Amino acid sequence: MSKFYITTPIYYVNALPHIGSSYTSIAADIIARFKRLLGEDVFFLTGTDEHGMKVAQSAERAGISPQEFCDDMSNNFRELSSMWSLTNDDFIRTTEDRHIKSASAFWKAIEHDIYISRYEGWYDVRDEAFVQESDVKDGKGPSGGEVTWMEEESFFFRLSAYQERLLDLYNTRPDFIGPEAKRNEVIQFVKDGLKDLCISRTRFSWGIPVPNHPNHVMYVWVDALTNYISALGYPDNMDRVNQYFSNCVHLVGKEIVRFHAVYWPAFLMAAGLPLPKRIFAHGWLTSEGQKMSKSIGNVIYPKDIIEKYSSDIVRYFLFREIHFGEDGDFSQASVERRINYDLANDLGNLVQRVLSFPYKIGSFTPNYSGDDSCKRLIQLARDLPGEMNDLIDVQDLSGGLNAIWKLISEANKFVEESKPWKLLKENRTKELNASLTALCEAIRSVAICLSPYMPHVCKRIFEFMNIKGESLDEIKIDFVPQVFQKPEHLFPRDKKC
Ligand code: MSP
Repeated sequence: MSKFYITTPIYYVNALPHIGSSYTSIAADIIARFKRLLGEDVFFLTGTDEHGMKVAQSAERAGISPQEFCDDMSNNFRELSSMWSLTNDDFIRTTEDRHIKSASAFWKAIEHDIYISRYEGWYDVRDEAFVQESDVKDGKGPSGGEVTWMEEESFFFRLSAYQERLLDLYNTRPDFIGPEAKRNEVIQFVKDGLKDLCISRTRFSWGIPVPNHPNHVMYVWVDALTNYISALGYPDNMDRVNQYFSNCVHLVGKEIVRFHAVYWPAFLMAAGLPLPKRIFAHGWLTSEGQKMSKSIGNVIYPKDIIEKYSSDIVRYFLFREIHFGEDGDFSQASVERRINYDLANDLGNLVQRVLSFPYKIGSFTPNYSGDDSCKRLIQLARDLPGEMNDLIDVQDLSGGLNAIWKLISEANKFVEESKPWKLLKENRTKELNASLTALCEAIRSVAICLSPYMPHVCKRIFEFMNIKGESLDEIKIDFVPQVFQKPEHLFPRDKKC
């Protein structure tokens, strides 16, 4: 069975999860669910990033030990899985023994490219990133975080030695970084010249000790990036690492592409490990047109928004409204528009209108020899999974929904044209059966392809139609929708679905 590995960034535990930090996880879940429908052996990983100066400072402010602070905060991220119906196979924490052991082994594996020297320069604590002198303005780094001057003895990774190998990688594997605009930015960044990377700290102790140098802790990004292999059992289970990792897609927010597309492959090359298949960067969400901020009071918390609309609706909205890969806005007016038009009018009406017929007449004998318009609709239904597969392979999650809605709109047009109510009234049973067969095929295809995005809504459609919906292959089988449950409206106006 072919292996597929999908990851989210591991989340800093210094703040509560919000819609932005749920975004990557939902995207990864949609992809994981889709790949499982294809019959692939999927490993979907998420987790929390718990070391570093920022977390240590937050724990101090809370007046508890960093470990207690992390134990508590990490649970808020773990709970996202049940809230958003995420199907992650593992949840890694960087304070777990398995990770610490793995990160220490990884350090040793790249030690031949590490040397000790002195670090002098600016550090942005919020981003846990070193900042170039030229990028510091009014005591702030390029992303607006305050910078502090650091001077200490540190270990350095010989990143400069990887410049050509990285450029070669981007060149020979053009799909290694997506979208294209991010790929170009990374290539430019590397072409501008890579400096060796400071990868240890002595100023604070909340981190993984550098092997044989316990007064140094690893730079939080070296520690954090290793999570992707520690969860696979590195270094003890190299078979697993080798099998999954070369089929790995890292989903990341646009601001952390450099860490994943430059530092991480360089570290992996140094360790002689396989490289991931692709790094895909998505954009940032704003809330009601503004950057989310506690002081503005517009931070969207998962619990509130799920209570208001349901997890399926928000999952749908995020990938229909905002093209995955670009920045976009979350506004309640837009969510409500999507509910009324796309969900209630297009999908909900189609399902209820069509399935009410077979429910009314008891059962019907499928007829696959209808006229050209019936055959066309069946063909469109059967083409959908292939089309979706091509889109999901390049993380075009919004394209996937557009393709599904194209079929929904074709099916709605078909209802208007074939007029099943008239066929029923005139007792034209053969034609009615052909029309219902084509429509049920379309609805089945829509429900199976949409299930990674809206698992609960689609489960109800499967129940109405008495189908399993566990594999995309089912679309290719002529099916006999014999038993139907009463098809209630999927998106009643006054109730959450
Ligand atoms: N801990 C690092 C990642 C280490 S991965 C080896 C980190 N953590 S984070 O909590 O700050 O961010 C995690 C992810 O959440 C990032 O991909 C970031 O882009 C995403 N988002 C946080 N706020 C966001 C929005 N407002 N919109 C969309 N995604 C955003 O970076």
